[in-house]
Amino acid sequence: MMIDRDGIALPGTPERQLLDELRPDRMPRHVAIIMDGNGRWAKARNLSRIQGHRAGAQAVRTTLETVSRLDIEAITLYAFSTENWKRPKLEIRALWGLLKEFIDSQLDTFKKNNLRFGTIGDLERLDPSVRKYLDRARQATRDCTGTLVKIALNYSGRHELSRVLREAVANAGQGRLKPDEIDEDWINRHLDTAGTPDPDLLIRTSGEQRVSNFLLWQIAYSEIYFTEVLWPDFGVTELLEAIQSYQQRNRRFGGLDPENLTGTEPHGGTSV
Ligand code: IPE
Ligand code: IPE
Ligand code: MG
Repeated sequence: MMIDRDGIALPGTPERQLLDELRPDRMPRHVAIIMDGNGRWAKARNLSRIQGHRAGAQAVRTTLETVSRLDIEAITLYAFSTENWKRPKLEIRALWGLLKEFIDSQLDTFKKNNLRFGTIGDLERLDPSVRKYLDRARQATRDCTGTLVKIALNYSGRHELSRVLREAVANAGQGRLKPDEIDEDWINRHLDTAGTPDPDLLIRTSGEQRVSNFLLWQIAYSEIYFTEVLWPDFGVTELLEAIQSYQQRNRRFGGLDPENLTGTEPHGGTSV
């Protein structure tokens, strides 16, 4: 792991102090973020919701730059849920427009920072012009070996799991898959996130403490970090604070801490 410390924060600044306190051997491999609060950020400033989303796009740039300098393996950003189609047409149109703008303006930076672009979610429903941008970004960065950046678009965890279930049933019906072969590993390999480790850290901004249909299967053992900060205000400091909180957690995965393991063995025997 090669952290570009000076690129993230200059020596002597509070952010640098935070950064220096982080343990490089305990960095999350995969960070997932529910980027919420653009609308409230705009409302507080008497701006339109769309201006809030524009400010949110800037926070995405900062976050991606930081995760790439932290040498984090993967980041998944929830940008548009299947439920977000319920919003006014004008807002929806603006969101897809901003995504195109984002790709246009960031593709060179992606390449320069060695970021590999990808998506999760059902792209079928998206406008063909949007899909073209996504293809372009994917193609242009396919050989990048740094942080994998996955944007969740028209994504829903239940939708994803239903699709996997349909695939399993179809394969089984055609005799290509035995029911016994449908195990956690098979499911993992058929999710949109196949090949990416489960998120170690899930962040949600804006004070809402819910998952809103994001990565339902994959967050089984993620550490969850809620912050009141609205997404457009989520900067370097906020990301480093989230990682610091993650590093202070004790991940037990249902087991016990090493210090609690001694003394639990049955008399004279070795535990299995
Ligand atoms: C998150 O901000 C961005 C998207 C869901 C696209 P919101 O637009 O949900 O902002 P709030 O929750 O209304 O403040
Ligand atoms: C979750 O935010 C979806 C994204 C961030 C894309 P929402 O604002 O849509 O979630 P709810 O409606 O508050 O649960
Ligand atoms: Mg919201």
